[in-house]
Parts: sequence; structure tokens; C-alpha cells
Amino acid sequence: MATWPSDDDVEWGRPETGNAAVSISRSDRLTPASLPNWILAYVEYMSSEEALDRVYAASADPAAQVELYDDWAASYDDDLAVSGYATPRRVAEMLAEHLTDRDAPIFDFGCGTGMSGRALAHAGFTAIDGADLSTGMLEQAERSGAYRRLWELTAGVLDVRRGTYRALVACGVISLGAAPAETLTLVASAVGPGDFVVFSFNDHTLEDHEYMATLQALLDDDFEQVAAEHGVHIASREMGSTVFLLRRSSAEHS
Ligand SMILES: C[S@@+](CC[C@H](N)C(=O)[O-])C[C@H]1O[C@@H](n2cnc3c(N)ncnc32)[C@H](O)[C@@H]1O
Repeated sequence: MATWPSDDDVEWGRPETGNAAVSISRSDRLTPASLPNWILAYVEYMSSEEALDRVYAASADPAAQVELYDDWAASYDDDLAVSGYATPRRVAEMLAEHLTDRDAPIFDFGCGTGMSGRALAHAGFTAIDGADLSTGMLEQAERSGAYRRLWELTAGVLDVRRGTYRALVACGVISLGAAPAETLTLVASAVGPGDFVVFSFNDHTLEDHEYMATLQALLDDDFEQVAAEHGVHIASREMGSTVFLLRRSSAEHS
């Protein structure tokens, strides 16, 4: 709930012009319709930034993640649209460049509300399944219409047989304060020979030894790095992410 300043009247100048001021009195009946658009945009921006503050302060404990995302599910898409969340589009575009069969089955691990699934669908993929820890996020994903099938995950368990999907996607999922580093190994374990795993690490995660060592272990095993590109993750935070596309070699180690 908003708390008003203690002065009876407040006067806010428009920051971008410095001269057109808006006066609001305590006696004014404030409804969204009575407020100028720039105030509404500012309030929307601040609430999306508050949501992001919670995410970046979160614990990776699965129960804490479920609580965080169940609470956030209803406004997640709007908040991240305001903040300029660019990674889903970048993940989908990278995969589309290297996996030309648009009907190939894709699994969106940690699908959330379906932003990543919608980006994959927008890139032309037609057979997308998704799963997540948070039922609140899954309810939104169901509404997105991007998925063939959705289900609830148990942390640390991946109920997917190796080779079922041509690509496993983990967009904005495996990072400090979210899914732990070993989640990358878990997701990669379901990738069949010649198939792909595509995921993002945000800037904080790129600096973390454990996450980077987990990635290196896959490359030392039988994955090759097909592409890696750094770009915008969340524009309002000036935060970047690297999107990695790895492929398991066709001849598996015995
Ligand atoms: C930032 S959201 C990303 C959602 C979606 N991929 C996107 O790009 O919008 C992170 C998601 O990861 C899920 N998550 C967090 N920890 C997880 C874990 N250990 N295993 C699987 N999913 C997890 C959360 O429930 C949340 O929906």
C-alpha cells in the first residue's frame, strides 16, 4: 500500500522537463484515472524494481524459490516487460539459428510463466513442453498457450528420459539465488547425443567459480560449446547475461 509524504501537499516536477509540475492534495481523491501517465509509469517501474530486488536477494533454497515465484506469478510478465527482460528472446534466437527443425521437441526447464516458451514459439518452435517448481508460475504458463504439456518439478530431480528432447532450455533459471550450479549437470544429463542444451548465466553467475566450474566440467566431458553470446539480461538494471549453446557429441563416451 502506498504511503503519502507527511506534508499536506506535495508537488512533483516532471523530471524530464523540469517545469511542468503536478500538485496533489491530500483531499484529492486519487484513482489511477486521476493520475498523470508518467506517475503511473513511475509507480509501475518502482514495483517491478522491488520485485527484482527480492529476486536478487533470494535464497536458492527450493521452498524459498517456490514462495517467491508463487507470490510473483501474477505480475511477473508485466514487471519484466517494464524492466526490459531480454534473455528469453536471445535464447530462442540462438537455438533457432542452430536447430533448424522447428517441429523438434523442446523442453523448457524452469519455464516460469511461459516467457521463455513464448519466445521459443515466436522463433517458430511448435513442440514445447515445460516444467517448473512453482505452481503459481505454471498456472500462468498454462494460460500462455505456448506449451504442449506442463508439469510440476521436484527440486534436484528431472523426470525426463535422455534423448526425449532435441533441446533442453534453462532461461534465467540457473543462477546465484536461483537454481544451484549442479542444476546445469542435471539438465544436461537428459540431453542425447547430437542434441542441445541452451541456458543463460547472468553477470553475477558468470563471476561465480562454482557455476563456471560446472560448465567447464560439461565441456571437459562430451559437450562442445557451439555458441556463447553476452548481451542484455535486464535493461533497467544494466545487467547482462551470456547465453550458452552446448551440444553433446554424437559418439558418446562409454
Ligand atoms: C526468473 S524465472 C525464469 C522463468 C522463465 N524461464 C523465463 O525466462 O521467464 C526462474 C524460474 O526458475 C524456477 N526455479 C527456481 N529454482 C529452481 C530449481 N532448483 N529447479 C527448477 N526450477 C527452478 C522458478 O520457479 C522460476 O519460475
